[in-house]
Formats: sequence, C-alpha cells, structure tokens
Amino acid sequence: MTRPFARIAGIGAAAPDRVVTNHDLEQTLDTTDAWIVERTGIRQRHIAQADESLSSYTLRAARDAMQQAGVEAADLDGIVFATVTPDRRLPSIACDLQSALGAKNAWAFDLVAACPGWVYSLTVAEGLMSTGQGDTILVVGAEKLSTITDPMDRSTAILFGDGAGACVLRRTTPDDDRGILATYLGADGDLAELLYIPGAGAAEPLTEETVRDKRHLMRMAGREVFKAAVLAMSRSTDAAITRAGLPPDAIDLLVPHQANLRIIEATAKHAGIPMSKVMVNLDRYGNTSSASIPLALVQAQAEGKLKPGMIIMLVAFGAGFTWGSVVLRW
Ligand code: ACO
Repeated sequence: MTRPFARIAGIGAAAPDRVVTNHDLEQTLDTTDAWIVERTGIRQRHIAQADESLSSYTLRAARDAMQQAGVEAADLDGIVFATVTPDRRLPSIACDLQSALGAKNAWAFDLVAACPGWVYSLTVAEGLMSTGQGDTILVVGAEKLSTITDPMDRSTAILFGDGAGACVLRRTTPDDDRGILATYLGADGDLAELLYIPGAGAAEPLTEETVRDKRHLMRMAGREVFKAAVLAMSRSTDAAITRAGLPPDAIDLLVPHQANLRIIEATAKHAGIPMSKVMVNLDRYGNTSSASIPLALVQAQAEGKLKPGMIIMLVAFGAGFTWGSVVLRW
C-alpha cells in the first residue's frame, strides 16, 4: 500500500437551527411520518430561514474544522467548495468564504458534482497538493437545498435538508501513515434527467414563466434514481476496496452519502460490511447532498466512533449521475 500524501487534520459541520419534522410536513403534504420513516429512514431535516445565507452556517463549519486542525486563516493555501446551491451565481461562494475567513493566501473555487461533491473535492484537493498548489487546503461541502426543492412536491420535499461540512486537508509528514489511501470517481451524463433542474440556467434563463412552471426547482424520478444509486454505490465501494488493496473486512467504518437508509443498507450488504460499522445520521438531517458525509463524520467523531488508525470508507452518488469513494486511515 502506498504512503498517504494528504490527511484530514480537522473536521467541522453546521446546520441551520430550524428543524422541520416529518410531522410538520404532514401539515402541508399528502404524506405521513410512518411512510417517510419506512421508505427513507428520515425523521427530520434542518431548513434555513429565507434570510439565512449558505455562507453563514458554512463559516461555522469551516472555523470548527480549522480549529480542530490547529490552522489559522493565513495558513490556508486553497479552498475547494462543493455545492450546487451557492449564495449567488458570480463570483464563486469559495471566494466569499475566503474573504469571510480572511484567508488571503488561498486560491478558491467552487466544484459542482452534486452529492459526491465533497468526495470529488477531497480527490481534487489531494491532486492539486501533489502538483505543488499548497500543503493546507480547506475542503467544503455545503448546501441550501431548500432553495431548489419544491415544498409542495412530496417526492422530493421529504428527502432534502440544508447543512454544511468542511475539513482541513494537510500534506502528510514522512513519518505519518494516516491519510487518503485510495480515491475513485465516476459519472454517467446519460442519466442526467433522472434528477435535474430544467430551467434557470444559461440554456433557459430565469423568467416569470420559468418560475410559474417551477422549472427552477429539482425534478426527480425517485424509483429510477434509487436503482441507479444502488448500482453506483456498489461500483464505488468495489473500486475503493480494490484500489486501496484491502479486503472488505479491513473497513472499520463506512460513511456513506445519507440519501436513503435502504440505499445505505443495500450498499453495505453488497460490500460485505455489517451495519454495525456503518455511520447513519440521515434521521436527523435528511439528504444534505455534498454536506452529508462531513456531517456524518463530525457526528461519528462526537460519538467516539472515529479513532486514530481506523480505516474509513466514504462513498457517495448523486445527480449527473456522479459517484465516488475515498478510503483513508484516520
Ligand atoms: N408520502 C406518501 N406516499 C408517497 C410519497 C410520500 N412522500 N412519495 C411517493 N408516494 C407514493 C407514490 O405516489 C406511490 O404511490 P402509488 O403506489 O399509489 O403509485 C408509492 O408511494 C410508492 O412510490 P415509489 O416512488 O415507488 O416509492 P419508493 O419506495 O421508491 O420511495 C423514494 C420513494 C423515497 C423517493 C425512493 O425512490 C428514493 O429514495 N429514491 C432515491 C432518491 C434519492 O436518493 N435522491 C437523491 C439522490 S442524489 C442526491 O442526493 C441529490
């Protein structure tokens, strides 16, 4: 096995204060708490207030990650920000975060890869480090999905929530065997319309008509997404295990994208990893896209489930279709 080049030195996560439970959704949607729990495992999600920016709670997550890593803003060489819901179209929210942190020495850009955005960003940040673009990179996954979710669409409104996560990725020292052991990324654009936003992009600029027809909001073919997700997650766990040169029983903790408990269970079963070694927190947050894995990692750490030396696998899928996985020694 190759020596890791970069390691996660600190993690942080945050979510808006407002909690919307399944029972709250029963008031406005033709759904029930029992249906949502049985079909998804979700019990509540955090939803930002209209005037609460993505930057506001992301800043809390970033500061927590930096504090845990013992890193000051001036130490950051770069910021990769995975999101599909930036506060504004131009400039990147990564630049807003660079300014808010006062990280004057950091380059900054956004990365769009939907739910595996944080997994993609870790991989990209490690690659940039290996080409000399810095030794200390802030990797963020954060979303305000409530701004692209139709609150009256029961097939999506029950699933998604808002949240933010971040880590400080640092170059390892020669005597350090902790860090990223293997990464794997994939995509299939042929499946784009299983989960997409038809309007409000450059092909169909925002108009009153777009808004009236809700073409600026997410559309999803749930059952087809489910099938493609199980396939993508299985392919990703297989590839990660192979690339890391490890047997499945070497995985101490699987931290999957938190989309649906049944997808997580199918993934774990395929990979031969018992559910006792799988981190699940979608009951609290729902699906927060690129924030879901760092939110789960932070909770795992708070619950004492992350110990130095453990082998962790991160795996995610999402709109695009995109997928990816990372194996690391914690
Ligand atoms: N409440 C009650 N009934 C519902 C609801 C709801 N919220 N939503 C759908 N139903 C009904 C349907 O209308 C259907 O009724 P019918 O049998 O009379 O036609 C029935 O429940 C079953 O519908 P299915 O769509 O087959 O239900 P399924 O078991 O597939 O669950 C779900 C739906 C939860 C959306 C599931 O397909 C899923 O999780 N898919 C993956 C979605 C996902 O992960 N998306 C994000 C991926 S990428 C990213 O993370 C951004």
